[in-house]
Amino acid sequence: MILVAPSILSANFAHLADSIQQVERAGADWLHIDVMDGHFVPNLTIGPPVVRDIKRETGLLLDVHLMIEKPENLIPAFIDAGADLITVHAETCPHLNRTLATIKEAGLKAGVALNPSTPVVMVENVIGEVDLVLAMSVNPGFGGQTFIGSTLTKIRILRTMMDESGSTAWLQVDGGINIETGRLVVTSGADVLVAGSFIFGAADMGRAVQGLKFLTA
Ligand code: DX5
Ligand code: ZN
Repeated sequence: MILVAPSILSANFAHLADSIQQVERAGADWLHIDVMDGHFVPNLTIGPPVVRDIKRETGLLLDVHLMIEKPENLIPAFIDAGADLITVHAETCPHLNRTLATIKEAGLKAGVALNPSTPVVMVENVIGEVDLVLAMSVNPGFGGQTFIGSTLTKIRILRTMMDESGSTAWLQVDGGINIETGRLVVTSGADVLVAGSFIFGAADMGRAVQGLKFLTA
């Protein structure tokens, strides 16, 4: 079954605990937390103190997506805050092996993300070291953007690369996911779907989450 990770970027931040309870009841598998710094992406969101408070509110796996420059400076604080999985962007990490090792040595799962225009070769040499590869299907920074269709080819290439190297890592896709685009990315090899506006904007959140979960390749 597909794992569904609602992105709280589309939740009501003034009622975050309620929103988290709602996605839990809807059957979410993980909680996707988008961290933005106003530099790597042109938007600002939340930092470690909010992650710490979220951790007290939910038992869902906290999937922290770092869209920040120099992530190594803040990784220890996100580890302390209770992140379960931390994903860094390959574009922000000149010493990617070391950054991933810092996350894994703390007992967390480590992921590596690629922007839509970043070639897959950027992660080829770390496939064996990661628990998750995240293919962005929009340019990161905002919720509610339109899925970029050309990323499907990249998702297929990543799936093949991961299978051929014997990797058991998850292949996650993030950005513009709804039932239609979700079906396309699952057919292309994704097994974890992030969705923000589709889930939090749904009239029936349970139906939205279940609809994504039961997509098949
Ligand atoms: C984009 C974020 C996404 C975003 C997805 O920068 O990484 O996680 O919240 O939102 P939707 O599903 O609305 O495209
Ligand atoms: Zn994200």
